[in-house]
Amino acid sequence: MVHEQKSPAPSPAQGVGPTYRREDEKPTATVSKEVSYENVHILPQTPQLIALLTMIRDKRTDRADFIFYSNRIIRLLVEEGLNHLPVVEHSVTTPVNRAYLGVRFEGKICGVSIMRAGEAMEQGLRDCCRSVRIGKILIQRDEETCQPKLFYDKLPTDIAKRWVLLLDPMFATGGSATLAVEILKAKGVPEDHILFLNLIASPSGVTDFAERFPKLRVVTAFIDQGLDEKKYITPGLGDFGDRYYTL
Ligand code: PRP
Ligand code: URA
Repeated sequence: MVHEQKSPAPSPAQGVGPTYRREDEKPTATVSKEVSYENVHILPQTPQLIALLTMIRDKRTDRADFIFYSNRIIRLLVEEGLNHLPVVEHSVTTPVNRAYLGVRFEGKICGVSIMRAGEAMEQGLRDCCRSVRIGKILIQRDEETCQPKLFYDKLPTDIAKRWVLLLDPMFATGGSATLAVEILKAKGVPEDHILFLNLIASPSGVTDFAERFPKLRVVTAFIDQGLDEKKYITPGLGDFGDRYYTL
């Protein structure tokens, strides 16, 4: 369902996005941290993306707007993620009878969401890949220890032959995503066939992950400053699942 916007979508043309004049005028938290791993890709830091992130970070943003603006970022992540899949040459004839040598995707894909928050990214994937198969892994982070616990997984039977787009918007300690990747690898998915799509990552989480799984690719919208004492991402956006589904 398309949620009606309560306020106009932020766009640079309306002057809602960042209007900093000089690099050194930018508050630190609005600049994604860089990491020097070839397998970590950060979305282009456009004013539009930063404006969307600002909307979902704002604690005053209500659930309808949180869903709407998160979905817009998720769409950007999926579109960028698809750029990392292999293509082969494909020629077509145009309506004016000219040959056009283009490309088409090669291979089969599936999505795997880390429940619950990762399920919020499924529709964005479906919007780009009609009738895509989607597997589920239910992992919950223990509120006291912050350790991930696996409750359930249900994955396509031929997952080992597919490219897997692993979906989870929050990447804090990296424990949940690491457990999910270990499950996928145990099912026979080659590491270099896994693409992890994520909205906000912590620098330590993404660094550990990139080193542990050097062949897997991460596509994220932003690498934040760090983690607080409860292992929440800072400045972050709070609990994504709560804000998207229940708050
Ligand atoms: C959140 C989030 C990730 C995990 C990130 O899920 O969606 O799965 O925490 O933290 P980590 O990197 O330290 O493991 P949570 O377990 O809170 O469940 P939810 O999706 O039901 O909110
Ligand atoms: N899970 C979330 O939803 N947010 C965080 O900051 C960390 C884990």
